[in-house]
Amino acid sequence: MESGKELSGTLMLAVFTAVLGSFQYGYSLGVINAPQKIIETHYGRVLNVLPNESLLLNGTEARVLHPSVTMYWSLSVSIFSIGGMVSSFLVGWVGDSLGRIKGMFTVNILAVVGGLLMGLAKMGPAHILVIAGRAVMGFYCGLSSGLVPMYIGEIAPTAYRGALGTLHQLAIVTGILISQVIGLDFLLGNDIMWPVLLGLSGAPSILQSVLLLICPESPRYLYIKLGKEEEAKKTLKRFKGEYDTTKDIAEMQKEKEEAMKESKVSLLQLIRSPSYRQPLFVALMLHLSQQFSGVNAIFYYSTAIFTTAGVGQPVYATIGVGVINTILTMVSVLIVDKAGRRNLFLIGLTGMCLCAIMMTVGLVLLSTYSWMSYISMTAIFLFVSFFEIGPGPIPWFIVAELFSQGPRPAALALAGCCNWTSNFIIGMCFPYIEALCGSYVFIIFAVMLFGFTMFTYFRVPETKGKTFEEISSEFRRRRHAPPSGPKTATEMELLGRSTDA
Ligand code: GLC
Repeated sequence: MESGKELSGTLMLAVFTAVLGSFQYGYSLGVINAPQKIIETHYGRVLNVLPNESLLLNGTEARVLHPSVTMYWSLSVSIFSIGGMVSSFLVGWVGDSLGRIKGMFTVNILAVVGGLLMGLAKMGPAHILVIAGRAVMGFYCGLSSGLVPMYIGEIAPTAYRGALGTLHQLAIVTGILISQVIGLDFLLGNDIMWPVLLGLSGAPSILQSVLLLICPESPRYLYIKLGKEEEAKKTLKRFKGEYDTTKDIAEMQKEKEEAMKESKVSLLQLIRSPSYRQPLFVALMLHLSQQFSGVNAIFYYSTAIFTTAGVGQPVYATIGVGVINTILTMVSVLIVDKAGRRNLFLIGLTGMCLCAIMMTVGLVLLSTYSWMSYISMTAIFLFVSFFEIGPGPIPWFIVAELFSQGPRPAALALAGCCNWTSNFIIGMCFPYIEALCGSYVFIIFAVMLFGFTMFTYFRVPETKGKTFEEISSEFRRRRHAPPSGPKTATEMELLGRSTDA
């Protein structure tokens, strides 16, 4: 009997529906950049602190914002990450108690509420409504950025897990790009339309809620977590058509037996248990390398960085970054299951490290040679390209691969929280570090990128084409192997090296 259709219409619909949540996350990340000045001015009007004080700086008149406007604006930006940091901890609980589908469906309420609060901002105290809306939206995104990879990781066929997992990142970057484009002042980034621009961040959740009604629940969740064999078989057939489910059920059974050896894995148990220490360390380090690579320093402050680098029309250069970002993520979707996660991660980090050095050279020598602005600009574009080849998409889906069904929800929660926290730290600290280090600021990222490259080379296993059971049993084997003893053939293979050498 046939093994079933791997990439069926139902599977594609389910993945598309799920990543609408990721799109919303990207949109919310990017949307706050373009309309900053306009919203600040509106806050000023609401707070009655206009007109802005004018100062004469070096002979030119400069607009100085009232401190309370700056404070409310900073809060509007950063409260989003705080919401995400808090809620990402709840991913495991929501995913396990409601299920993947009902979980995504229920959290959409938050997205709608967040969107409405921002969309109606002009009808009340705008600063308070925007801050409340961004907090609720951040809370939503913290949950969806864990639930989406969890669902996709569980329903994706082994051979396409990388490509389908990368669609989460593709939806994020598309969200960032769309928000940058419709945030231009002649579209929605103006004094009249900005509440619509912000409010639209909740819109995809309405479409997602409708589509979720026809998406099948994860068979792994049904079989392993709820023990519903018949429902799991039916769902497998919804995904793959009429076929013999024995092989798939046997694979899940193996995973279930492993999960049953240990009781439900809570966050604390995950941290304490020696058997999860290695995969957890790898998962957290990959998320740390994604964030401390400095990519969001570019995304949050690209316009300012382009201005410093002497680029005319910095807003359009920023949109250019969004376009490159999206194209390279598409490339990653196509190659990740062939090239392997570990290789792409290594290439990505090494390339980013070299680009950070190139950017520094460009910025430092700009005052001597004006053409250095082209060097900096090229470095920024390449930096982002290397990011999307590996370090961008891989951490999001590899966590679901590194853990079997039992610890998976807790691991995703912890990794998500690590991602959101480091994202918040970079967002808050970058302007201060830049003020301190000036043109040399990207050297810090170059050093960190070098460290992360070394870590990946020595510690990150290849997960391409392996079942969840094979991956976790490899970690078990490694844990019991003598630290410097000879490596098994499988281990060498997992590390992506030849055993012939
Ligand atoms: C990843 C990161 C996110 C970043 C984005 C840029 O999704 O998690 O923080 O903004 O990539 O493409």
